[in-house]
Amino acid sequence: MKLRKIRYGIMGTARIIDRFVGAVRASEKGEVRAIASRSLEKARERADGLGIYTVYGSYEDLAKDPDLDVIYVPTINHAHKENAMLALLNGKHVLVEKPMTLSEKDARELFDYARKQNLFIMEAQKSLFLPVTDEVKGILQNQELGKVHLFEYTISIPEVGFRWFYDRKSGGGALYGSGNYILAHAMNLTEEKLTKATGLATLSEEGVDLQCAFVLKSENGALIEGKITTMVQADSVLRIFGEKGKIEIHDFWKAREATVEIYGESVRKISHPVEFEMVYEVDHVNACLEKGLHESRVMKSLYSIESAKITDDLWAQFLKA
Ligand SMILES: NC(=O)c1ccc[n+]([C@@H]2O[C@H](COP(=O)([O-])OP(=O)(O)OC[C@H]3O[C@@H](n4cnc5c(N)ncnc54)[C@H](OP(=O)(O)O)[C@@H]3O)[C@@H](O)[C@H]2O)c1
Repeated sequence: MKLRKIRYGIMGTARIIDRFVGAVRASEKGEVRAIASRSLEKARERADGLGIYTVYGSYEDLAKDPDLDVIYVPTINHAHKENAMLALLNGKHVLVEKPMTLSEKDARELFDYARKQNLFIMEAQKSLFLPVTDEVKGILQNQELGKVHLFEYTISIPEVGFRWFYDRKSGGGALYGSGNYILAHAMNLTEEKLTKATGLATLSEEGVDLQCAFVLKSENGALIEGKITTMVQADSVLRIFGEKGKIEIHDFWKAREATVEIYGESVRKISHPVEFEMVYEVDHVNACLEKGLHESRVMKSLYSIESAKITDDLWAQFLKA
């Protein structure tokens, strides 16, 4: 018997959707059925380019489409809460882009509502589903590096070219853009809550952080350092240091490779080539929906809520400094 596909609708015509559509099509069980924009013309244009059949000129109409199971929300950051809630209110499961919300309170509201309605919602943190991440996590759990004391994350995105990046209220800036990548990834690897963060930022004239740096501690005492810059070209790399060795992952949020060195013994490469790295996340969402879950056991609500809380704390510090 052929099982029915999981039917996705896309809210908005963001640049990221080309990669998402590629990933859904590469997934085993997903299909993209519809797209909406606040402008029907824009939606039509993107639908033609991507080969999507059903087109809507409003997010409300998309949310009401009875032929959809799940709505992907890759809108401007400050609209995530409202757009995700619109989908939930219309009985749809939701995959919402990072950062899930701009406040802890909003993240809690989305999870609470979804739980009550028996609907699934997850923040799109693709890095947690990469085979490279899984393998690295296994290495840490098997203590191959011995006790791990230091995680150094650097993300460099010097080519930011979109307007809302320079507006903090829209959810622009380095921390809202990429801080959640680091926080969710670190919580997933350590499976621990992170303690209060300390951080500094370089603010633009408009008041967004063009770059920021922060440090946190895991419950086990490891230090987690995060640096995000849009001002210079730096090496986007995660280095994990244990007493017996280290792991290096370039572009950890979309990594296909990592290097594991056990000091004085071996250096080996992990390699998982793939065209659309979001495919693992999409396969995971499909599996959660088939099981009738309302929350992912990998990208947990706790991670989204804690990330939002830490981001709020850091912003308070950036503004005081
Ligand atoms: N997971 C990843 O790998 C990844 C990578 C990049 C970005 N992202 C996330 O994906 C989301 C989209 O990022 P992007 O860079 O692709 O965005 P973008 O190209 O700037 O598009 C944002 C979309 O938001 C919609 N929107 C809704 N309300 C809006 C408003 N008031 N002003 C402007 N646009 C509004 C627009 O769709 P309509 O005009 O069609 O309605 C617009 O196309 C962000 O949350 C970002 O953090 C994720």
